[in-house]
Amino acid sequence: MTESSPFFSDKPVVAIRNACIFQEHNVVLEDVSFTIDKGEFIYLVGRTGSGKSSLLRTMYVDLPLRLGEIEIAGYDVKTIKTSEIPFLRRRLGIIFQDFQLFADRTVDENLFFVMRATGWKDRAKMKQRLAEVLMRVGLGTAGSKMPHQLSGGEQQRVAIARALINEPILLIADEPTGNLDPQVSDGIVQLFREINYMGTTVLMATHNYQFIKNYPARVLKCENNRLLDSKYEKIELGGYY
Ligand SMILES: Nc1ncnc2c1ncn2[C@@H]1O[C@H](COP(=O)(O)OP(=O)(O)OP(=O)(O)O)[C@@H](O)[C@H]1O
Ligand SMILES: [Mg+2]
Repeated sequence: MTESSPFFSDKPVVAIRNACIFQEHNVVLEDVSFTIDKGEFIYLVGRTGSGKSSLLRTMYVDLPLRLGEIEIAGYDVKTIKTSEIPFLRRRLGIIFQDFQLFADRTVDENLFFVMRATGWKDRAKMKQRLAEVLMRVGLGTAGSKMPHQLSGGEQQRVAIARALINEPILLIADEPTGNLDPQVSDGIVQLFREINYMGTTVLMATHNYQFIKNYPARVLKCENNRLLDSKYEKIELGGYY
């Protein structure tokens, strides 16, 4: 890792300027501008269909950026080459509502698969990293289990462990607790808070305002095709959303 690496610099992890977020020919969010500094924990909220996933997908270059600028983890999304996208994604840990584990292999094999795909070769180092990330998510003894032998909350912890393998500077979680009951969800949010406390920046889309009450942090809200930011304005979280 070089000194110009975003991991050590004071540059924002994310800088978005005047971006327009599209789905096909529709503008989902207009004139989006915000920065995320290293170490922040941020909730992304808004009604269903308001543009949360579209914004996140544009950030990790799964939707094209047509207007405006996005810099993320040291990459310029406007000019990024297709061949560089896997390297950007490696600097991000991306977590979804459906855990997206391979059902036909063990937890260990799920994680080894990602390590091999991202260039790990030394078997001893791989085993050590695997043990570290599983321990980190509280699943130190689950390595030999198949996903179907784990609860939903445990499967999401495996997905989080997988996202942590390459020490991402930003974790992007799109409704990570959408399939989990309230108590298990609370444990997952606490885990994200712990990971954030250890230094990883976290951006989490959620519909659960209870998290924000229990663990207050900066909020970005998609509303009426705009992105509101609690850093600069009061954001209404009461009532139906
Ligand atoms: N693959 C797609 N193709 C076309 N339009 C889409 C696609 N995905 C989403 N949209 C539209 O884009 C808008 C924003 O959707 P998006 O999925 O970003 O919302 P969201 O805030 O993530 O909602 P939810 O809380 O339900 O996940 C909606 O009008 C939606 O219908
Ligand atoms: Mg969504």
